[in-house]
Amino acid sequence: MKALAVLLLGWAALAMPGWAQVPAQPVDVLHWLTSASERRAANQLSAILAANGVQWRDAAIPGGGGMAAVKVLKSRVLMGDAPDVAQLIGTTLTEWADVGLVMPLNAVATRQRWAQTLFPTVMDLVSYNGMVIAAPLGIHRINTLLYNRRLFARVGLPPPTTWAEFELAVRKLSAQGIQPLAWSDEPWQVATVFEAVLLSDAGPALYRELIVQRRSSAWLDPRVERALTRLRWLRNTNGEPPREKPWTDATRELLAGKAAMLVMGDWAKGELIAWGASPGKDFGCVVLPGTENTHLYSIDTLAMLANGHHRDATQEKVAELVFNASTQLAYNRIKGSVPVQRDMDVASLDSCARDSWASFADPRTARVPSLAHRMAADESTKDAVAQTLWRYLTDPRMEPAEAQRRLAAVIRAPSNTP
Ligand code: BGC
Repeated sequence: MKALAVLLLGWAALAMPGWAQVPAQPVDVLHWLTSASERRAANQLSAILAANGVQWRDAAIPGGGGMAAVKVLKSRVLMGDAPDVAQLIGTTLTEWADVGLVMPLNAVATRQRWAQTLFPTVMDLVSYNGMVIAAPLGIHRINTLLYNRRLFARVGLPPPTTWAEFELAVRKLSAQGIQPLAWSDEPWQVATVFEAVLLSDAGPALYRELIVQRRSSAWLDPRVERALTRLRWLRNTNGEPPREKPWTDATRELLAGKAAMLVMGDWAKGELIAWGASPGKDFGCVVLPGTENTHLYSIDTLAMLANGHHRDATQEKVAELVFNASTQLAYNRIKGSVPVQRDMDVASLDSCARDSWASFADPRTARVPSLAHRMAADESTKDAVAQTLWRYLTDPRMEPAEAQRRLAAVIRAPSNTP
């Protein structure tokens, strides 16, 4: 009898149109939001969902840059146990959509007018073969240079806006026994710094050839050699032996005054704020020298996976809630990223976020996608590039020209252009 009642109830729920009447079902959410700020941002989302009748069942996989999370997701899918919601970003998203794993969100997107309200770059990123395949969470800026204001005040310098000023800062800081730059040799972090430096030395047009069109021969350009030389120089300003520390440790060094600068996506700013530091007081943020008027972005997205759990209505509700302006502001304020919508009052965000959002919105800005964070190439190409850069840095005998040849070889063009 009880079983029959449950069946009937289930049937009634299915028969009712719209998500409002659907009984609350927990959604399994796989993500890598596990540092202090990331956790808070995820908790903020889960609280918003809970207030709207959706229970978030957490499947957090630690590991910066989602290295472990992407692997766990793959094995769960292979075992027939795909989560309902996953932090799938960039090319990983389209790869899963290709095999029919991602639930289209066209109905929600039409209802909420995503095409009219999202930044076109964001709308493009979540559109694939006529389908809307993810709910956008926020936009991170990778070409971010964070600095410790107290240490810069001690050496009497403003934050560097050119490489000459950067070099001067390194000299002055070092002379006072201050570590100029926090550094980690984790391959994804090396790749994160490199792409920002590459954008600086190559400029947005060549950057696109290298990273978006993936023209192998372009990797032999002297501007790439300059970027590789600069990467090694940056690494060597930090005299520590090679160490793969989590990005949160490098960020902690900046806050503790053990290092004066950090080149990292602005999630590090979110982390500093979560630890109680204030932008403009304890730390500041500028763009990396030579990357003014460019925005090197990584856009976080949540995909709803088609997994036979019949949670479609609840998954649509998640997407709808993620897109809401109030969620966007509440989530991004904590996460360090910025809202994905063009008509948004961002006055309540911190100054780094306001700059990032204004730059992303400015039609004169060159917006370029991050390779290290999956916006431009598939997982294996990205990993091969990161490994090559890591090898180059850890083997002082490898000349930049050799690294260029290796990078040209591992870069696989989308259309195999030479
Ligand atoms: C994600 C960020 C995250 C960072 C560090 C990036 O790939 O886009 O949301 O904070 O990795 O884990």
